[in-house]
Amino acid sequence: MSYPAIRPRRMRRDAFSRALMREHALQVTDLIMVAFVIEGENRRVDVPSMPGVQRLSIDLLLELAGECVRLGIPALALFPITDAPKTEDAAEAWNPDGLMQRACRALKAKYPELGLIGDVALDPYTVHGQDGLIDAHGYVMNEPTIEALVKMSLAQAEAGMDFVAPSDMMDGRVGAIREALEAAGHIHTRILAYSAKYASSFYGPFRDAVGSAANLGKGDKHTYQMDVGNADEALREVELDIHEGADAVMVKPGLPYLDVLRRVKDAFGMPTFVYQVSGEYAMLKAACQNGWLDEKSVVLETLTCFKRAGADAILTYFAIDAARWLRGE
Ligand code: PBG
Repeated sequence: MSYPAIRPRRMRRDAFSRALMREHALQVTDLIMVAFVIEGENRRVDVPSMPGVQRLSIDLLLELAGECVRLGIPALALFPITDAPKTEDAAEAWNPDGLMQRACRALKAKYPELGLIGDVALDPYTVHGQDGLIDAHGYVMNEPTIEALVKMSLAQAEAGMDFVAPSDMMDGRVGAIREALEAAGHIHTRILAYSAKYASSFYGPFRDAVGSAANLGKGDKHTYQMDVGNADEALREVELDIHEGADAVMVKPGLPYLDVLRRVKDAFGMPTFVYQVSGEYAMLKAACQNGWLDEKSVVLETLTCFKRAGADAILTYFAIDAARWLRGE
């Protein structure tokens, strides 16, 4: 009987050599917390399809932000659920005193060092739950939507947002937003482009959380979000956004799209973010709550996989939990 001279298991035998050969490791500084903000005071409202996630009024959002700062999480991505009536023109999106802008000012006043990422899309504000403005046939119109997104981005930049993050997938919106920000003197406001955003069924719990699911009804977003079967197209989308002035690009959803993430990172070497979306959270949480998976180890595994696939940063509803685990708390 002959034995192998080359034994990969030698390096795996002890923790010290496993540590030495580890190629990718998750750090707290890779994490971006995601939060939903609502009107009112001292209000927290559960999201039924996302156990453990709550919509928070600004005062409670400040506590969550304080915890991010304490843990060393670099940034917070914000999504608003406003009480203002939804309209055809989504004008609440650029109201200087709108919920998003107020939340941003409050957070920047108390925690200036915490990076803030503002979602730029019209779905929290439109009567139909689409990310843009629609024509008589229900088609989301590209240029009129861009005009609205530009106003929205300027309102957020004015309020002190560090990143505006267009999640709408209109053609040319990054360039238009960049030009408007420069013209208004907001030269430091970064753009995180949701460049390869797929028409995914994993957004369901998010649409419940922001209350756009009911308005969207049987509608879908296939005329602007990408087809699940495509990967080359993701590279074309990312390339456009880079040329239009994106400071960082994103792939979304996360785990089912690691191949796309790897290709994007390899092709462009840009700051590349990935979004572990609501459906991924719900799926993991449900299995963990049933005792079918071990939450800490399985969540840290998914986040490490994003790093291995090329992510520089990860938007995740698990950010605070993961940071605590990484710090041994
Ligand atoms: C909409 C938006 C969505 C998400 C972020 N921004 C949903 C959608 O496109 O319908 C999904 C995030 C998640 O599922 O966690 N602009």
